[in-house]
Amino acid sequence: MSDSARIQELRELIETYRTAYYQDNQLLISDAEYDALERELKALEADAGEDTESPTSRVGGQASELFSPHKHLERMLSLDNAFGAEDFEAWSERVGGGPFLLEPKIDGLAVSLTYQSGRLVKAATRGDGETGEDVTANVATIKSIPRQLAGSNHPEIVEVRGEVFFALDDFAKLNASIVEAGGKPFANPRNSASGSLRQKDPAVSASRPLKMLVHGFGAWPTSFSSQSEVYAQLAKWGLPTTSNFKVVQGAQEALSFIAELEKGRHSLEHEIDGVVAKVDDLARQRELGATSRAPRWAIAYKYPPEQVNTKLIDIRISIGRTGRATPFAVLSPVRVAGSEVEFATLHNQDQVRQKGILIGDTVVLRKAGDVIPEILGPVAELRSGSEREFVMPTTCPECGSELAPASEGDVDLRCPNARSCPAQLRERIAYIGSRAALDIEALGYVSAAALTQPLEPSAAPIQSEADLFDLKLEQLLPIRAMVLDPDTGLPKHDADGNPKVVEFFRKKDGTPGETALKLLVNLEQAKTRDLWRVLVSLSIRHVGPVAARALCDHFGSLGAIFDASEDELSEVEGVGPTLAASIKGWWEEDWHQEIVSRWSAAGVTSAIPNHQGPGSMPRGGFFAGMSIVVTGTMTSMSRDEAEAKIISEGGKAASSVSKKTSFVVAGPGAGSKLAKAEELGVEVIGEEEFLARLQASAN
Ligand code: IVH
Repeated sequence: MSDSARIQELRELIETYRTAYYQDNQLLISDAEYDALERELKALEADAGEDTESPTSRVGGQASELFSPHKHLERMLSLDNAFGAEDFEAWSERVGGGPFLLEPKIDGLAVSLTYQSGRLVKAATRGDGETGEDVTANVATIKSIPRQLAGSNHPEIVEVRGEVFFALDDFAKLNASIVEAGGKPFANPRNSASGSLRQKDPAVSASRPLKMLVHGFGAWPTSFSSQSEVYAQLAKWGLPTTSNFKVVQGAQEALSFIAELEKGRHSLEHEIDGVVAKVDDLARQRELGATSRAPRWAIAYKYPPEQVNTKLIDIRISIGRTGRATPFAVLSPVRVAGSEVEFATLHNQDQVRQKGILIGDTVVLRKAGDVIPEILGPVAELRSGSEREFVMPTTCPECGSELAPASEGDVDLRCPNARSCPAQLRERIAYIGSRAALDIEALGYVSAAALTQPLEPSAAPIQSEADLFDLKLEQLLPIRAMVLDPDTGLPKHDADGNPKVVEFFRKKDGTPGETALKLLVNLEQAKTRDLWRVLVSLSIRHVGPVAARALCDHFGSLGAIFDASEDELSEVEGVGPTLAASIKGWWEEDWHQEIVSRWSAAGVTSAIPNHQGPGSMPRGGFFAGMSIVVTGTMTSMSRDEAEAKIISEGGKAASSVSKKTSFVVAGPGAGSKLAKAEELGVEVIGEEEFLARLQASAN
């Protein structure tokens, strides 16, 4: 295709996407894809030496006909983007360096507020930059926006610009209530802000907890000399300004701030998609001026996208350690939040239905930082008609057994072949190695798969977990195995599309590899772990670390636990009838009994030393009798690990804060639980203090 034909094509595409986005609140492509199209168009136009009549020289959308038009006194511009340090440094050089004011780029909806002698007279969306939509009645419902500015001597006229947005918490609540009422949830917080503000009936806007942060001004003959001084004035007038801005001296300091904020981006109350850098000096801003589209004195540094569109190729099911069949999405691989995503769990059939996705759809995929990738929903507008509905399979994909609910009325289907379904065995073995159970470093998912499903001609050294502690070096050496994805159980592939195979128990010369030796040493060490970890390792449904500790402390040995009646089991605090029945049911299987006897014969802990029998041991430990809540993120350990430490010190790791909470451990990003603790006057400590208390417990 010639450059000019491509230019034409790109212009048309961009127009289509802009109209859909600004007028109809529809996301036909992701922001990242849109940015890429704009970048390509700009580059082609620069080569061709023309950019008139192009969307690249115009701002955003057009006012819809739902609202009356409002002409801005001063144009509302867009921002140019920087996609990395190099782009940013080039901009810094173009503008002659700092100082720069940096602040989060809020993913919301741009709004201009006009104050006449201190009184709010107009609120409008950006529209095409010249003319926006008059949304005064809707904006007047936003509590944080003052109708009357504080103080006195207000300018005759001032246009204040900012971003209207939905806080993440509020967004989650809104979508939950929409889904409950049978409606279609919003694709992201920005869409929900736009959809909630641009309502014909302001009562609807009023029912939505919209917020605003201001980040600049339009018409205003101000005598202030810097953007930061302006912010101080806006704050004095009672306008909501961000507390997260910073003035830095130059590009390098700016890049550190940008990197820092990226790490903390999920702790903010709203979504951000980057950082806006502005030349702080207002005289310099005026000198630099603007293009037809964006000021030269500001730039948006964009973070890697966390939301992208991709194709849903198929929906399959994976089988978990207790046999549960979980649908997951097979996606056309995409990069999102810095990593490649190929699969996403869909939790259960109902969720597939609720999300309204069809196989073959283009879907919106979101992956926020380290969080598990999630499909938000389909881009229904892009359907071709060839999409098909997902039908839950009736048989296990790994062993062919008929799937069935564990008990009547259960939504989840399970594979009943607990003993020999390869998926269930693999998952159980990997679970034994996990931190929640026996914490065996060399027994990860890949090892578990290799030990249970080696490639021909080796025989599987583990046919049941009973075999685990009898493993011999010579059984390990010949093993070759496929590398499986821990979330789906599907083989992983190399860059050429061939399944990845490992042969990691021996070296090229046939002598034992480090992994083999490490596994055997680790298994030996694991034999003397605490009894509760052994109990957790048995994968008895409902028996997690909390129940396992309580049971072990009470009964003192596996023998005593399995000998106890359901009533006796239920006497233990935190053990209910379902759990008691689950333990009894598990023990009825001969092959389960064999696991316990073979492990114990191999020297695995089966009793707490010096325990005087059922009920004799009071629950001890440094946190005994305390209920402790962990919230926010920790740096030295995960939240799960912190909770495990609390439990191992005899405390209860609670999930919600009440008057009975002994104390709350709060890290960055703590939200409502921290607020609740403060409201109730419950003690709040940081990670450092928590570590100090743990240290004290060890002494
Ligand atoms: S300053 C003259 N600061 O991003 C334009 N904009 O993609 C100056 N935005 O239209 C804009 N957060 O609506 C500025 N802290 C911030 C922002 C911000 C979000 C929006 C703004 C702009 C869009 C461009």
